[in-house]
Amino acid sequence: MINIGLLGCGTVGSGIVKLLRKNAELISRRSGDDIVIKRVLERDREKCPELGLKPEMITQNWADIRDDAEIDIVVELIGGIEPAFQFVTEAMKQGKHVVSANKDLIAVKGRELFDTARENGVDFYFEASVAGGIPIVYPMKQSLAGNEVNEVIGILNGTTNYILTKMSREQSDFSEVLAEAQQLGYAEADPTSDVEGLDAARKIAILSSIAFNSRVTLDDVYVEGITSITAEDIKYGAELGYVIKLLAIAKQDDKGRIQVRVHPAFLPNNHPLAAVNDAFNAVFVHGDAVGEIMHYGRGAGQMPTASAVAGDIIEITRNIKNNNIARIGCTCYEEKTVLDINQLSAEYYIRMTVKDRPGVLAAIAGVLGNHNVSLATVLQKGRGENDAELVMITHEVMEKDLRDSLKVLEGMDIVRAINNVIRMEGTNRTE
Ligand code: HSE
Repeated sequence: MINIGLLGCGTVGSGIVKLLRKNAELISRRSGDDIVIKRVLERDREKCPELGLKPEMITQNWADIRDDAEIDIVVELIGGIEPAFQFVTEAMKQGKHVVSANKDLIAVKGRELFDTARENGVDFYFEASVAGGIPIVYPMKQSLAGNEVNEVIGILNGTTNYILTKMSREQSDFSEVLAEAQQLGYAEADPTSDVEGLDAARKIAILSSIAFNSRVTLDDVYVEGITSITAEDIKYGAELGYVIKLLAIAKQDDKGRIQVRVHPAFLPNNHPLAAVNDAFNAVFVHGDAVGEIMHYGRGAGQMPTASAVAGDIIEITRNIKNNNIARIGCTCYEEKTVLDINQLSAEYYIRMTVKDRPGVLAAIAGVLGNHNVSLATVLQKGRGENDAELVMITHEVMEKDLRDSLKVLEGMDIVRAINNVIRMEGTNRTE
């Protein structure tokens, strides 16, 4: 029998209790042993009895799990960095294997946790920390291990994908859709981590560390959220054949330098990620052997996340049964340079309000040209009262050149406002 110490009996914790019970027989046959929840660390005494757990299984004292020699696997579902970091570290030092769904912890303390796992010869699995139920961590570490991966692009946050999808369908503004999403429970009361891109940033830090074999932490990720996206941007983008998504992007150039960023981006309508709508997540990967692949599914929610946690528990159980533990450790054996956002080369959408007078377009194009910013498309939209709105798409240019040119434009009296600048992605796919 494999005994589990479950830390946290909230949404996902309850999900894992239910799943291990519902599919007990097939899980036992697939893993080679019965998997039993032995103790649960949970502050709320009401939660666990509702799930049919016996009162004597519940504890408020971490030491009851840490010091229980019969517990083989600790499943950490409490979230946040402390006390999760302390609990996971201590569990590993006691020779216990660990499954965690905690992206905050792994995106910041991954290196320390892998070191501790290796020193103590235990397994550390964390499939549920990225994109909930979608298998991506383990496939990247195992099924795609023969590839040089040069691109991982994810829609890794369901809340923002829901909001942007609804803004696109209904031509509504961000604040309106956010309020509605909060009422329906699709967005948190404090939506900062989702709408400012931090949740996605943690997840892409984890994925890029695996993809590029180099430790990328949250601080390495350039982050912009979706709060400045307007219905107008979405409408103009649609006219030009693009859809907006909050993308988490990790790329490696031919010199082995990497860029890791989260920001809203326009994707061509025919890009596979453009069809990922509502609260769904997807991860698009390009490997040198496999080419393009995309993993799609539910990135959050009780049972999808429990599905990923259960997969990890089963895999560790198989490892224990076959005396084959600590097979897949930290894959970060290199130290790669993370490029600054200024070194990015991309195409950009720019929307600005300008005076509607002869020579204005030429003056603006002149400033952009002086900074090596070449235009691919220009749309002029009348605004009335002598103002016009310009929507421009650039060719591929350096972010630094674009930023320098915008500083000059901001100081010109013919430019009333630079309303938005949005990066484009996936415009030059060859497959
Ligand atoms: N808040 C996240 C989302 C799920 O909206 O996708 C947990 O990471």
